[in-house]
Amino acid sequence: MVVEKNMEKNKNYNKKLKKYFNLWSKIYQNKIDRLFNSFSYLKWALKQICTHLSIKKDSKVLELGCGGGNFLEKINAYFKGKGYYIGLDISKEQIKLAREKIQKDNIKFIQGNMIDLPFKNDSIDYIVSCSSLHHVANKKKLFCELHRVLKNNGKLVYCDFFLENNSEKYTKKVKKVRDKSKWSKKFSGDIQRAYNLMPEFLKKMHPTDYYIDPYKTKKILLLNGFKKCEIILSPDTRFAGISAQKLLNI
Ligand SMILES: C[S@@+](CC[C@H](N)C(=O)[O-])C[C@H]1O[C@@H](n2cnc3c(N)ncnc32)[C@H](O)[C@@H]1O
Repeated sequence: MVVEKNMEKNKNYNKKLKKYFNLWSKIYQNKIDRLFNSFSYLKWALKQICTHLSIKKDSKVLELGCGGGNFLEKINAYFKGKGYYIGLDISKEQIKLAREKIQKDNIKFIQGNMIDLPFKNDSIDYIVSCSSLHHVANKKKLFCELHRVLKNNGKLVYCDFFLENNSEKYTKKVKKVRDKSKWSKKFSGDIQRAYNLMPEFLKKMHPTDYYIDPYKTKKILLLNGFKKCEIILSPDTRFAGISAQKLLNI
């Protein structure tokens, strides 16, 4: 009974999510290239993700919740066209937009749900993502699925919004990262600015997200078989990165 209720809740949530991001694609994505350069937290995320990857000629990289494909295009440029890239998104309109905008032989886009990936076991070298995993309610199921498709030694690296962890230990660590430079202030300001730029009707439709804090995330990753899990701190407690590896036989 509880399981059925949760399945129904998830179905409704995904319906809402698809509708929301289909609309989002029409409003936001044509401005994102221009906006990207002024959002310091997105640039930070791209840098963190790229420095945690080491793409070879035949590496397979999967981006979860790729939206209009901007991130994947930038990762491909960072690695000078090395590797194969697959962008996956639940929204049909976002995928349509990505396919229209980015036409490269080594990049393809597919519609799908990250909780139920259309890939074989042990088939992906890297899974990356930016600002998307917080939409998934069942993190345990999600990480189990990601672990399944990753090859041994494969890596998950993503940046996302998190529930703030108010523990003293965490705040102390973030304080060390948060320096007094203008950049640190801009970082936090940009997160708010991105939200403020959202049209009012979209703000009202925004699906309730499933934020959890980075330490809880780390625990779930470890419970699902991931190893070498690292929390990448940013100057703002609401935004962080996570890197974790699939390492069998250690
Ligand atoms: C905030 S957007 C981020 C888009 C892109 N990563 C970027 O930074 O421009 C979140 C994306 O995640 C996608 N998404 C949400 N839940 C998903 C799911 N369960 N499976 C696949 N994509 C999902 C949405 O459709 C949306 O395009």
